Amino acid sequence: MECSEALRRRRMVRSFDARPVAAAVVDRVLDAARRGPSAGFSQGVDLLVLVGSEQTARYWRLAFPEPSGRARFRWQGLFDAPVLVVPLVAPQAYLDRYREADKAGTARGELSGWPVPYWWIDGGMAVMAALLAAVDEGLGALFFDLEHPDTVLPAFGVPPGRLALGTIALGHPGPDDGPNRSSARPRRSLDDVVHRGHW
Ligand SMILES: Cc1cc2nc3c(=O)[nH]c(=O)nc-3n(C[C@H](O)[C@H](O)[C@H](O)COP(=O)(O)O)c2cc1C
Repeated sequence: MECSEALRRRRMVRSFDARPVAAAVVDRVLDAARRGPSAGFSQGVDLLVLVGSEQTARYWRLAFPEPSGRARFRWQGLFDAPVLVVPLVAPQAYLDRYREADKAGTARGELSGWPVPYWWIDGGMAVMAALLAAVDEGLGALFFDLEHPDTVLPAFGVPPGRLALGTIALGHPGPDDGPNRSSARPRRSLDDVVHRGHW
């Protein structure tokens, strides 16, 4: 698939069928995330990957501890996603990298030296690469908010110091993928977004 087509076709998918995704296909999506650009090539992005109903059900139990909250959730088909990927960033990896000799002239060896914390940028780049790879594989994907990271992450053995961006649900699109409130908003036009020469 052409890159331009993958970009145009990508839409968040919020309903999945529970059919498993071949391991090699999942790996290609994960590998795309690994190929994102990275500040100083620090590569402080890790992926916690949960495959199959035993692992994903555990995630959902922790992310939705109240059964009533889960029952009220608008996209019940999201719970069927056969794969969940939690992208995590390690700020310390960036501090360590920017303390190396070639970066030592910057103030970025300390947290206070980062007006724009590049670990979040790298994480977003990795997520976008994975979302596009999912389209390329004929899969659907949703990036969404991770509820209760303080209980979800330790339960899966994530070491302290790793910060989750959210979660990516991945799988074959399911039947009941209704529009969400955000998707009713029109996309801003190119002229509205672009400020040529002067704002
Ligand atoms: C940082 C970020 C957080 C998001 N969080 C959620 C979320 O928690 N739940 C959800 O349904 N969609 C979430 N979305 C998806 C957006 O609603 C969606 O990208 C937007 O409506 C545009 O639609 P499209 O991606 O299908 O083109 C999130 C997207 C981003 C980039």
